[in-house]
Amino acid sequence: MRVYDFGSGRTDPGSFPTEALAEAASEAVREVGAELVRYPGDMGHLGLREIMAAREAKREGIEVPVEHVALMNGSMQAVTLVAEALMQGSDDIIVTEELTYSGTIGAYKSLGAELVGVPLDEEGMRVDALADTLEQLHRKGTPPRFIYTLTTYQNPTGSMMPKARRLELLEVARHYDAIIVDDNCYGDVHFEGVQEPSLYALDDSPNIIYIGSLSKILGPGVRVGYMVARPPMLARLLDRRHDGGNSVLAASICAAFFRDRLWSHIAMTNAILKDKRDAVFAGLAESVGDICTWSRPVGGMFIWVNFPEDVDRNHLMALCAERNIMVARGRSFHIHYEDVPALRLAFGFASLQDIRDGVPLLGQCIQMARTQASVLA
Ligand SMILES: Cc1ncc(COP(=O)(O)O)c(C=O)c1O
Repeated sequence: MRVYDFGSGRTDPGSFPTEALAEAASEAVREVGAELVRYPGDMGHLGLREIMAAREAKREGIEVPVEHVALMNGSMQAVTLVAEALMQGSDDIIVTEELTYSGTIGAYKSLGAELVGVPLDEEGMRVDALADTLEQLHRKGTPPRFIYTLTTYQNPTGSMMPKARRLELLEVARHYDAIIVDDNCYGDVHFEGVQEPSLYALDDSPNIIYIGSLSKILGPGVRVGYMVARPPMLARLLDRRHDGGNSVLAASICAAFFRDRLWSHIAMTNAILKDKRDAVFAGLAESVGDICTWSRPVGGMFIWVNFPEDVDRNHLMALCAERNIMVARGRSFHIHYEDVPALRLAFGFASLQDIRDGVPLLGQCIQMARTQASVLA
């Protein structure tokens, strides 16, 4: 039976550059050779760090010294390492958007952190609410260890924080002397309009920690990401690293692959993803345009679909399962797992045809799961 996989943030398998990567692998292994008998160390393969520093510098229009870039086994390692390094005990507070990446929620909760949520709108984290939250936490004598935020192509909502709000956020964080973790895992998965500057580019304080990844421009199976921070923060974070470093094998292959084709590869994959996003928009408009609203992300891999309160979420998930439709239930992204009337639709992995056929099918499921609709029928 056909599967409609709109579940997780994966890249397009049809355009995965298998042959070019195989060539890069053979080149890379010859290049690094017996270097592989050594442990990589905290920073990782220099060649890839240089390419990623140049990537960030070009997009952000700032200088990014290679000494500030440390490779990670996926950006998730950076997300976790930051908490391990900055938390001082369990019950420490971390401030995040009320809706955020489920992996981060799981990781921080398992480290014993208490997540305090800030509401967000179509422009990301609401800075007025952040200021209130920080004020209250300071008054109680429990300032957060850091603020974790997804300012760009927010997961799950797809929101994009405009520059003006970014500057306000930095101002508030500075006022409360708060560290900010800016997770830009989807950086460069951009379809149209302005690319807003990262918090790291707008503020040269060591209190801004920036996280990047190759997962969304190549594939999460590669497990290569990175963390960028200025001294003395980077050393403080790496002090808690005990894994021997990021795979030089994986990093050297990525370096050989991306050396001359980073931007052309990104342009190719973004064009495919943009078509898929547009096909989701069309399918939603056709099937649930009368009852749902959804985000209009200019990048990333997710569309956040808000449905009416009377949609029975358990029934909806059962109907989807019967039809082999995989989507992420809204509550997985709520820091307290509140059953919000929404779902996250990922459009990177499914084929264009599966999106054209599957999204209207998902729409039907939403219509069928309405309790009032069944009363009326
Ligand atoms: C916001 C965010 N951060 C981090 C990650 C982890 O990605 P990586 O594969 O680079 O570890 C993801 C994966 O979906 C994500 O959405």
